[in-house]
Amino acid sequence: MGGPHARTPRNPARPRVFATRWLPGPALERLAERSELRVWPEPRPPGPAELADAAREAEGLLCLLCDRVDAALFEACPRLRVVSSVSVGVDHIDLEEATRRGIPVGHTPGVLTETTAELAFALLLAASRRVAEGDRLVRAGRWTPDRAWDPELLLGRDLLGATLGVLGAGAIGAAVARRAAAFGMRVAVWSRTRRELPGVPEPLWGSLEETLRRSEFLSIHLPLVPETRGLLDAARLGMLPRGAILVNTARGPIVDEAALVRALESGHIAAAGLDVFGTEPLPLESPLVRLENVVLTPHIGSASLATRARMAELAVENLLAGLERRPLPHCANTVSNSRPNTIP
Ligand code: DGY
Repeated sequence: MGGPHARTPRNPARPRVFATRWLPGPALERLAERSELRVWPEPRPPGPAELADAAREAEGLLCLLCDRVDAALFEACPRLRVVSSVSVGVDHIDLEEATRRGIPVGHTPGVLTETTAELAFALLLAASRRVAEGDRLVRAGRWTPDRAWDPELLLGRDLLGATLGVLGAGAIGAAVARRAAAFGMRVAVWSRTRRELPGVPEPLWGSLEETLRRSEFLSIHLPLVPETRGLLDAARLGMLPRGAILVNTARGPIVDEAALVRALESGHIAAAGLDVFGTEPLPLESPLVRLENVVLTPHIGSASLATRARMAELAVENLLAGLERRPLPHCANTVSNSRPNTIP
């Protein structure tokens, strides 16, 4: 590995860090000044064996949500003292195992809230007003003179006056609810805990079932944990009013994708805007790819220049804190027995 990716000779006074990808912004340069940083050199993510091999000597691991950090990896990397993920979600990390081993796991909540809410809203608007379909139609030369202004061309749905169901009233759910209220929507919410939703007049709190039945539009903002995996199965999707529009910027496996495809084909769900999928990258053979009424984006909820740079900064702060045996600014697990510091 070249450039700042690898430094030789090694300075034994500094902790070894392995990062699975170079990140936007100056954060990794800062990390390189305080550690022996190695960065995975390929544009593709490392596979599990490659990651285990590359991180074998590392005390700190900076990873992305496409890197599986599990018991086998911890076993292969006995010097690991901190894991820092450049993501808010940590479903790719075996938190229980990390906790058992006394390894704190950093993540990046807060900094990506508004950016992800913006993408959820972009998908909501795109799906309801058939923006991607319109784009495809124009590019394919199907906007023909006989349809110059066709009163029935690509009729969509208004947000104004409709009810948006929000599943999960964490920071991102609350930010989406606030945007919905500004668009004149009613907001129905299902969440484990109730909280103030500033900017949302009279949110309709309810059970999952009540919320689904109210949701002409639905936006998902839940973490992927065992209780939410497959939460939106065929039966629950069937509770949405006919013609509902669904947006998912959280995690794909929360929705039963096969059931969603059936609901989109039957028209029970009129359209969907999806940024996340059961398998990522979404295989081209997925039936979602051939459905006209679906807007697809490649897991870019947090993908603005400024936000990705802030995520990198926060991930580096978490990592350095762990290496220096300070509490992580944002720690996803509770670690009581941090392992002894092997760094001089
Ligand atoms: C996250 O951080 O968990 C998002 O899914 C990607 O930014």
